[in-house]
Amino acid sequence: MNILYVSAEVSPFSKAGGLADVSGALPTELAAKDEQMCVITPLYSIVDRQQFGIYPTGMRNQIMMGNTRFQYHIYESHREDNSNHRIYFIENTQFFDRSGIYTHANGEGYEDNTWRFLFFQLCIIDLLKRGVFHPQLIHCHDHHTALIPLMIRAMEYPASVLFTIHNFDYRGHFSEGDLSLLPRDIAKKVRQFDHTEWSAMAMGLEFADAVNTVSPTYAEELLTQPGLSYELHEKLNSIQDKFSGILNGADEVYWNPLTDPHLSHHYSVKDLSGKKQNKSELQQYCGFTDNPEIPLVGSIGRLVESKGYPLILSSLEALIDRGVQFVFLGSGSQDIAQGLKRFSEKYPKQVSYHGEFNESLAHLIEAGSDMFMMPSKFEPCGLNQIYSLKYGTIPIVHHTGGLADTVIDWDGKFGTGFVFNTYSAIDFLHAMIRALDTFSDKDTWYKIQMNAMTRDFSWRASAKAYQQLYHQLTMGR
Ligand code: GLC
Repeated sequence: MNILYVSAEVSPFSKAGGLADVSGALPTELAAKDEQMCVITPLYSIVDRQQFGIYPTGMRNQIMMGNTRFQYHIYESHREDNSNHRIYFIENTQFFDRSGIYTHANGEGYEDNTWRFLFFQLCIIDLLKRGVFHPQLIHCHDHHTALIPLMIRAMEYPASVLFTIHNFDYRGHFSEGDLSLLPRDIAKKVRQFDHTEWSAMAMGLEFADAVNTVSPTYAEELLTQPGLSYELHEKLNSIQDKFSGILNGADEVYWNPLTDPHLSHHYSVKDLSGKKQNKSELQQYCGFTDNPEIPLVGSIGRLVESKGYPLILSSLEALIDRGVQFVFLGSGSQDIAQGLKRFSEKYPKQVSYHGEFNESLAHLIEAGSDMFMMPSKFEPCGLNQIYSLKYGTIPIVHHTGGLADTVIDWDGKFGTGFVFNTYSAIDFLHAMIRALDTFSDKDTWYKIQMNAMTRDFSWRASAKAYQQLYHQLTMGR
């Protein structure tokens, strides 16, 4: 089947979060299952054209937004040697020549994000109109691409559309004024919705043939907890028949301690000596005491409240008192970054904070830490806890969304991590202490590591679920 896969981030070209990892890995897996995957994404100036062999195709055109004409050029990466898997980029310097993907360095979103991603979507519609692509199915991701289903239906384009939600917190709101940027017939359709707030997400829910999110538990929570689906709670419940949850997988080569290209010391569940060497390297990198007996806890994530940083910040002092070492990687909110920085200045031998995204360090943290904390308030899927499990780095997580679907609480007999049920600092601290106490019992710890490392988190099952959904949707058309 011909599939057009549209995403605002695709790893390894551009990455702000897990969406990129999924958009890098899922099409690869589907192409291996003989689907014709054509991935399309913006060509941000941060994308390394040389490294990835990205060249102009010579295709260019212009689209109208309101009364203004904008040019776009199509580029293609020659990195994939698989004819089933092609990667195209939309280039326009005005919109994509920035130092970030969505935000300024201080974490504030670009003021013209509505324009930028509307432009991206209009270019895709233009390419479809001109017959450059002939997909039977279009797979859209998150609000940056959520107007495509509406536009596809309005132009009566003969393809099915699947809309995947990676995070309901970002819905792509727009105002009355923004409507003038849309083609008139589309704006008219949007006006028919008497929402107090218009959002791209609402349009995606309404017009896609099917909608899914990235874990079964998050899907359930969105339907049952109005606090998670906000003003679209009723709308979401009204489309239950076409809504589902499919758990993300993890790339089997890139996130595998035996083959990870970023690691100097490889290891597997059969022999964890490489993990010890990674720990020593990480301790040295952070300027900590290089000692295998000291528990080392990793954390990687966008610095936003919903990832549980308030719980971490209020428990850190108590955990530092127990001699634990902490390494943090992540950027975002200035307040959270300042909080972590203050700890790292006060306790340089125990807390290390890295604000610049660094892919190699992310891999070293996953491999070298003993534990990984991810106390997210809610979590659509979460990938770092999955990488942690695969690396024998025991996760401490809140029982929510994809975290609940992937980590099994250690009950003294079986388990792959430490899970707490109520989102509170005290419950998080208890789970941390439970993990630290267990860590000192080497045999038990190894048992948990074995349980974690031998679970299957490959894309196989999930890719199959997507493939079935694709076929089901196109058959119905
Ligand atoms: C978003 C979600 C995260 C999910 C990722 C990929 O970043 O916040 O939970 O794992 O998308 O689907």
